[in-house]
Amino acid sequence: MTTTGSKDQVLIFDTTLRDGEQSPGASMTLEEKLQVAELLDDMGVDIIEAGFPIASNGDFESVREIAKRSKRSVIAGLARAIHADIDRCGEAVRFAERGRIHTFVSTSPIHLKYQMNKTEDEVLAIISDTVARARNLIDDVEWSAMDATRTPIEYLCRTVEAAIKAGATTINLPDTVGYSTPDEYRDMFAQIRNRVPNADKAIFSVHCHNDLGLAVANSLAGVAGGARQIECTINGLGERAGNAALEEIVMAIRTRSDIYPYGCNVEPKFLTRASKLVSAVSNFPVQYNKAIVGKNAFAHESGIHQDGMLKNAETYEIMRPEDVGVKATSLVMGKHSGRHAFKDKLKELGYELGDNALQEAFRRFKDLADRKKNVYDEDIEALVEDEISTSGEGAKVIALTVIAGTGGPQKAILTMDINGRHETREATGDGPVDATFKAIRAICPHNATLSLYQVHAVTEGTDAQAEVSVRLEANGRIATGKGADTDTLVASARAYVAAMNRLNLRQQSSNPGALKAS
Ligand code: KIV
Ligand code: ZN
Repeated sequence: MTTTGSKDQVLIFDTTLRDGEQSPGASMTLEEKLQVAELLDDMGVDIIEAGFPIASNGDFESVREIAKRSKRSVIAGLARAIHADIDRCGEAVRFAERGRIHTFVSTSPIHLKYQMNKTEDEVLAIISDTVARARNLIDDVEWSAMDATRTPIEYLCRTVEAAIKAGATTINLPDTVGYSTPDEYRDMFAQIRNRVPNADKAIFSVHCHNDLGLAVANSLAGVAGGARQIECTINGLGERAGNAALEEIVMAIRTRSDIYPYGCNVEPKFLTRASKLVSAVSNFPVQYNKAIVGKNAFAHESGIHQDGMLKNAETYEIMRPEDVGVKATSLVMGKHSGRHAFKDKLKELGYELGDNALQEAFRRFKDLADRKKNVYDEDIEALVEDEISTSGEGAKVIALTVIAGTGGPQKAILTMDINGRHETREATGDGPVDATFKAIRAICPHNATLSLYQVHAVTEGTDAQAEVSVRLEANGRIATGKGADTDTLVASARAYVAAMNRLNLRQQSSNPGALKAS
């Protein structure tokens, strides 16, 4: 880990692969997690929370594999205050050059009463016991007081003291429910650091959820109160309204170094790439006006702003787009571009595809170049994200014909590949999208409900590709799929099928009688 001159260092702890992945519908495959972890490591993230090893064998395997491959970052795993969790976590992170066990327990009265049914003294004993157990396995132990911001300060002081005494090297005081305000959060850290006798033996950490839209402000306030580790996620992915966004934290520290005089190891040039990768693998679109990484974050529409920008970019820009890795939109390639150039372009955009996926993406790029006058970087990104979302095992859209217009009813004729067999069905619906989705359900009957349908144009012009996101919910599980095509209905069908495959609904089609279409 490098330090930035004589500046006080703030450590960046990324929890995209743990708290971020807990976001409904955001689950990632092992391959995807490895890709994200590699990029986080390359960009200088100090600590990567790679998962929750006891949660499943898949989670254990991903923490272990990320630990094995880590270069610079510390690799952390999460564990409840339970021996089995801690031991399993220790097993997974011991493969890292530098591993960390992150264990937590609730401390607020409401959690103690309703969730844990334990007294304050019982929880204190649990903290001493479980932190000591973790510390016997590894030197780097983080302890978190879940719901710290709703815990009376006197009791919070006692828990922190006990955790440090038992061997915790980092103390995290999360705003688990996103309830705190900046002044309150800063004061909490200042008070704890003043009142806990052994506070100087640990690094303090912030962890803020965004329920009131205050996660980044609270995190920076916590640092003003003495914390020196910030827990955050790419694109602010996370439970409910999400966690503090890493890109916003990093750029606030860098842009306002007069107010935040801290060193930070994250290289901002990777931020755009990281945002795109996480959006693609989690299937969570980034809102257009999202700070730092939104499509419009550096766009200037009004005449007055454009005039100022032409004279001097600093009139309306406080950061340079190139500092966060945004390149000017470029007309990239056309139908004469070869496979090699296409592969180089993908690398420049931050994608590395396996041979099969590359072949298929190249075929689709050629097809797109035939249909669309100008192919931009954004087109290639949408196409590759669609490929990541729709490739692999599962049902596939083969052909779609839609009859739409004022005459009604709208009709879709769809052919899909199901386990190597082609099946075709017709359906009518209330509009062409409804007809298309009904045709999918006629081929693959299932009980999922559609909870999100979102379309956006990737670039300008009537020949632009449409990028569609579809979210399905079934049996308490949620999955999102993305599809891109110059034909909005084909993109819609691909997105729906991608989400369906993620939920593994295809299996249900082998016993269609048992399920009803929603
Ligand atoms: O929000 C929270 O309290 C957490 C803990 C597990 C650290 O995510
Ligand atoms: Zn959290």
